[in-house]
Amino acid sequence: MHDFHFADGQLHCEGVALNTLAKKFGTPLYVYSQHTLTDHFQKLDTAMAPVDHLICFAVKSNSNLAVLRVLANAGSGFDIVSAGELQRVIAAGGNPRQCVFAGVGKTEKEIEFALRQQVYSFNCESEPELLRINRVAARLKKVAPVAVRINPNIEAHTHAKITTGTYENKFGIAFEQVEAIYARASRLKNLHLRGVQMHIGSQITETTPFEQAVKKVLPLVQKLKTKYALEFFSVGGGLGIIYDPMLASGRPAWWHSPAAKNILTPASYAARILPLLQPLGLKILMEPGRFISGNAGVLLTRVEFVKRTGKKNFVIVDAAMNDLIRPAFYDAHHEIVPLVKKAGGGKAVASDVVGPICESGDYFCKDRPLPKVGEGDHLALLSAGAYGFVMASTYNTRPLAAEVLVNGKKFALVRERQPVKDIWAGEKVVAWLK
Ligand SMILES: Cc1ncc(COP(=O)(O)O)c(C=O)c1O
Repeated sequence: MHDFHFADGQLHCEGVALNTLAKKFGTPLYVYSQHTLTDHFQKLDTAMAPVDHLICFAVKSNSNLAVLRVLANAGSGFDIVSAGELQRVIAAGGNPRQCVFAGVGKTEKEIEFALRQQVYSFNCESEPELLRINRVAARLKKVAPVAVRINPNIEAHTHAKITTGTYENKFGIAFEQVEAIYARASRLKNLHLRGVQMHIGSQITETTPFEQAVKKVLPLVQKLKTKYALEFFSVGGGLGIIYDPMLASGRPAWWHSPAAKNILTPASYAARILPLLQPLGLKILMEPGRFISGNAGVLLTRVEFVKRTGKKNFVIVDAAMNDLIRPAFYDAHHEIVPLVKKAGGGKAVASDVVGPICESGDYFCKDRPLPKVGEGDHLALLSAGAYGFVMASTYNTRPLAAEVLVNGKKFALVRERQPVKDIWAGEKVVAWLK
């Protein structure tokens, strides 16, 4: 569930009318609900309570410092994929000792920084990486805590660009090679084999792939635990959310009921996974991103023009694929609703909501029945809190959007809109061009 709802015909985030925020801060504008962030974290935390566990929020899904602080305050650890993300966690007041460092291409500099910050574990994705971490640790006279990411070769039934747990993907170490790699890694003096990890993909909306993956790796994890006195097993992230309630639950409009069928919930996830994990007696780590931040954020945009071509009704808005790339990149669906419901509602019009960028791929929906809107109206793209702002760019020299955090009736700007001149700060017209 989330904290975006209509009251008196206006879309609210918690106790704040989003129209007020759009007018005060301008658009495009990301708005996050503090309560939704904590609520999602706590729901997962409660579901996992029967086992010793640590939830490490995937920073890549939403790395705003205020968002990270909300989660750090809730007791979250963090899943990071770069030294930059680790610096963000530290800047936000998070604990580096509760960070797991993932990613296939960690540089020596990044490893050194993470070692000095005493991260909980390096989740390693190849043998050359293990050798590199050992080498850097030896140079610093340290012992690096590591886990190997198992690629279980399980099809997660999600979008091809976010499947990570099959042998077609660059991630992890093939299931069949893991034992031998642990044996070789155990001989490296500056490594401490602390755990084992897997992550099969993102936006997985059924429990079955998680269950299949855990079942497949369990005997191996048990064996490795006994042999190397491992402390933890990370089951990764990937828990999906409802982007399109119409498809998922058959309900009209954009809201959804948690009771609707086929929705993966913390409770259904825990019910299937925990009975398998409990006998292991290991600390269980999770790395959810989207599940916590996805439905905690929306992107607000203003209608600039409505262009009717005879064939199409184009609603041209001031947000674009540079602000939210998911529709262009993943064919992702985001519900789109006007911030203010018009009296009577009027007949829905099949519309393409598009941005101003010079790319045909710059659209948020195609031929979708939407209430009639006109210049100056505002729309919200829902479920934009994960892989939204973090994937934004300045393509077409468009400044990065502003971000606002809402807490009850309070709100605050948590990232200023980028001044346009900052886009080319650091660029130079070199002397020979003058
Ligand atoms: C290793 C790892 N952990 C966690 C995540 C977070 O995934 P999600 O946001 O789907 O939970 C990812 C996402 O790509 C990942 O690669």
